[in-house]
Amino acid sequence: MKIGILTSGGDCPALNAVIRGFAKYAYNNIKGVEIYGIADGYGGLISGEYKKMKPEDFSGILNIGGTILGTSRQPFKKMTVEENNSTKVEKMKHNYRKMGLDALLTLGGAGTHKSAALLVAEGLNVIGLPKTIDNDIFGTDVTFGFHSAVDVATECIDRVHTTAASHGRTMLVEIMGNKVGWLTLYAGIGGGADIILLPEIPYDTDAVCKKVLARAEAGKAFSIIAIAEGAMEKEEAGLKKKERAQKRQEVGDTTLTNRLAREINRRTGVETRVMIPGHIQRGGSPSAYDRVLSTQVGAYAGYLCKEGMFGTTVAIRGEKLTHNNIADIAGKTKWVPLDHPMIASARSIGVSFGDE
Ligand code: F6P
Repeated sequence: MKIGILTSGGDCPALNAVIRGFAKYAYNNIKGVEIYGIADGYGGLISGEYKKMKPEDFSGILNIGGTILGTSRQPFKKMTVEENNSTKVEKMKHNYRKMGLDALLTLGGAGTHKSAALLVAEGLNVIGLPKTIDNDIFGTDVTFGFHSAVDVATECIDRVHTTAASHGRTMLVEIMGNKVGWLTLYAGIGGGADIILLPEIPYDTDAVCKKVLARAEAGKAFSIIAIAEGAMEKEEAGLKKKERAQKRQEVGDTTLTNRLAREINRRTGVETRVMIPGHIQRGGSPSAYDRVLSTQVGAYAGYLCKEGMFGTTVAIRGEKLTHNNIADIAGKTKWVPLDHPMIASARSIGVSFGDE
């Protein structure tokens, strides 16, 4: 059996741990298996850049961040656009056949799964694996990479906590997640943030200021705000994504973090600072939790290959590994539900979500 493997979209810790888990399963359980590493995500499948891997290529990578295969972003919208008489999907299908593959493993996030669904529709034997620090893939409780990023973002909040307390400042920590707020919710609670702002709960600047002032009046001169990249003000909530981006561009902002910091300072007189950890949330070694999860996810993908269960993507429900049909989950988003128990318990201990 010839299996191609690629990692697509934004990288994250634990991609290598998944690749290793899969390869070890395959070499141990699938007779005569050959694994082909495809370079730079769908980019390598489009251009035909790949190499036959050896078992030793998968050794010593469990704790290494990034991806040994390389990755790239290939926008879904461009997959079916014709260029030089063929589309990217057609090129991928051509190279899949040319390589003589029996199966293709695609490790990636929401965009990767949408493109994988196009390949499935073309008759390719695809198995998806749910990667992203955003944790927004529909149909799975958790994605690999998420908990490693939670650990990093939590540590960032911890570290600003002490300096905020020393100076009596309000510190805003902007956490990745341009669409969903899972990472901000977990890191915000893990890091003891006083205010947590998620894309799913548009905030009111007055309500945020009220919380900062209430803390000051109660003798706590500092406040910590965990704000998602994709957080939005109530006034912006009705706008389409494009309109929102354009409006922000007009005032020179891409996210609202700096604007909110300025407003808090102007309205309350409290000194503010912004901290943006950025891509360090995607870098470095995976956490122990992610290594364990990824080993299981990789091995389970190997099992799906062996059993010929294609057109599927690995999912985790509770403690159980299972799978969904890619076609059923592609294009759907797992938002933070407004009635999530983590939100309710955070509110019950006085955390503000900026909405009341
Ligand atoms: O989807 C993962 C993610 O890290 C988002 O949270 C973030 O907004 C985006 O990728 C950043 O993308 P890039 O790697 O292109 O800067």
